[in-house]
Amino acid sequence: MKNYITLSDIENLDDLIKEALELKKIDWALDTGKGKTVGLLFFNPSLRTRLSTEKAGKLLGMEVMTMNAGKDGWALEFEDGAVMNSDKAEHVKEAAGVLSQYCDIIGIRAFPDLIDRDKDEAEIVLNAFRKYATVPVVNLESATGHPLQALTDAITISELKDKKRPKVVLSWAPHPKALPQSVPNSFADIMQKIDVDFVITNPNGYDLNPAITKDVSVIHDQEKALKDADFVYVKNWSSYEHYGKVLSVKKDWTLNQEKLKGTKNAKVMHCLPVRRNVVIADDVLDSENSVVLQQAGNRTFAAQAVLKRLLENSD
Ligand code: CP
Repeated sequence: MKNYITLSDIENLDDLIKEALELKKIDWALDTGKGKTVGLLFFNPSLRTRLSTEKAGKLLGMEVMTMNAGKDGWALEFEDGAVMNSDKAEHVKEAAGVLSQYCDIIGIRAFPDLIDRDKDEAEIVLNAFRKYATVPVVNLESATGHPLQALTDAITISELKDKKRPKVVLSWAPHPKALPQSVPNSFADIMQKIDVDFVITNPNGYDLNPAITKDVSVIHDQEKALKDADFVYVKNWSSYEHYGKVLSVKKDWTLNQEKLKGTKNAKVMHCLPVRRNVVIADDVLDSENSVVLQQAGNRTFAAQAVLKRLLENSD
């Protein structure tokens, strides 16, 4: 692994999941990353990604530097050949070049604007850092993907499943704000790479990018989709078709205990943060069905496995 930009950077997913679960068993720091530094740049807020990746770096013996780049850093210019006589004080060419001297791995979080689909799909921030950095770059959630979260989700299903091929349902849920498709995109992508019976359910108008969902069954009736589910992954996303819009939905899509009755006592997952009683009801989040805390705990080991691979490949 040279970078961790998308899930296609993983050479062998089964091995990486196994390695993360092995790392979870070890409760002391390794020295793989001794003398190395990971720098994490956040252009958007974070709790889990920031702290789990910091912890992962420390568990590998690395030095860790984190910057709220969106708030504390110079406003960056990403356009080649720009005449920088306005609000942008620094070009990404210099920023990435400088960081590459301070860090052995750089992590970047940069959300989409959800206004211009082509612009978001160009992944301008992440790709500029990959282009101009001379060290490996890790995607800490970008405009279209969240591969560290998806790896965590595959690890969590792998450790919790009680049958060879569980039924996993990705269910849309309501939210008052327009949210990116990054998490469901990467989740849909990784579910097609492991041995699960995978189904997506969402209201009309909320189908994800068909280039990502490919042949996955998309069912617009939530109750039907949830039938016999072993895992339900709940997530809101804004419309891909009517890009970035929050469409009005007549039925109630909030996941509650009533809706779990048709499942096989499904384990309920969410990447967090979750809005209680909007996305998932208290009666699910406070029940034995919820595995969201265990899932968030696994963020550390997913990040540790990825950083370890990048360190080993850059020697
Ligand atoms: N799931 C996730 O990425 O959480 P944060 O936004 O808190 O990092």
